[in-house]
Amino acid sequence: MRARSPPRAASWDTHPLQSQPLQPVDRSRELCTALVSAPDVRTSPSEGESMPTTTRAAETRLVHPVFPSDTNHYHTLFGGQAMAWMDQAAFICATRYCRRRVVTVHSSDLSFRRPVPEGSIVELVAQVARTGRTSLEVAVEMWIEPMEREGRELACRGAFTLVALGDDGKPVPVPPLAQRVGA
Ligand SMILES: CC(C)(COP(=O)(O)OP(=O)(O)OC[C@H]1O[C@@H](n2cnc3c(N)ncnc32)[C@H](O)[C@@H]1OP(=O)(O)O)[C@@H](O)C(=O)NCCC(=O)NCCS
Repeated sequence: MRARSPPRAASWDTHPLQSQPLQPVDRSRELCTALVSAPDVRTSPSEGESMPTTTRAAETRLVHPVFPSDTNHYHTLFGGQAMAWMDQAAFICATRYCRRRVVTVHSSDLSFRRPVPEGSIVELVAQVARTGRTSLEVAVEMWIEPMEREGRELACRGAFTLVALGDDGKPVPVPPLAQRVGA
């Protein structure tokens, strides 16, 4: 009996997306961290004194190779794995911004625009988009990058709401989002 050949992986060379032009790499987005000035609520002075500002990380990037263990039977990235990576990026972004314990309470506007072929690289870009009193919203994009070519395409995006918690597990104020440094 002849051994069956393994199913063909969805690589960039065989994938239908291959015929579409890729966006050039945006070199301005290569820094791992964008900084914002935001008051540090834990060291807030009493009313009337000037508020000290600290520089906070408001953007976080994570990069993953898409290996077979991450894909579905179509050899493209499994949606649940994509959501897990997006939630991780939002979590790290929120943690670096608050320097507090944070938990996800909501996700919205998840939109999967393109399949992510096995064997590509994905880059997750998470940015603090809005702050409330104890919550913050982090916008996350996931970009596909072929391993053997320059260029990238937006695969999916979504928004995650996280809440900062104190040592007692109760919500605590987050620093309000202020102006981006260098903006
Ligand atoms: C986080 C938690 C302690 C907050 O408790 P809570 O009783 O909802 O607290 P509050 O009502 O004071 O809400 C706190 C903030 O969260 C926001 N929030 C709570 N639930 C929300 C939801 N489902 N969607 C959007 N925002 C939400 C509130 O609007 C509020 O924001 P603000 O202070 O900026 O105005 C509780 O919801 C919890 O433990 N959730 C489970 C989290 C979890 O296990 N996540 C998965 C693992 S990370």
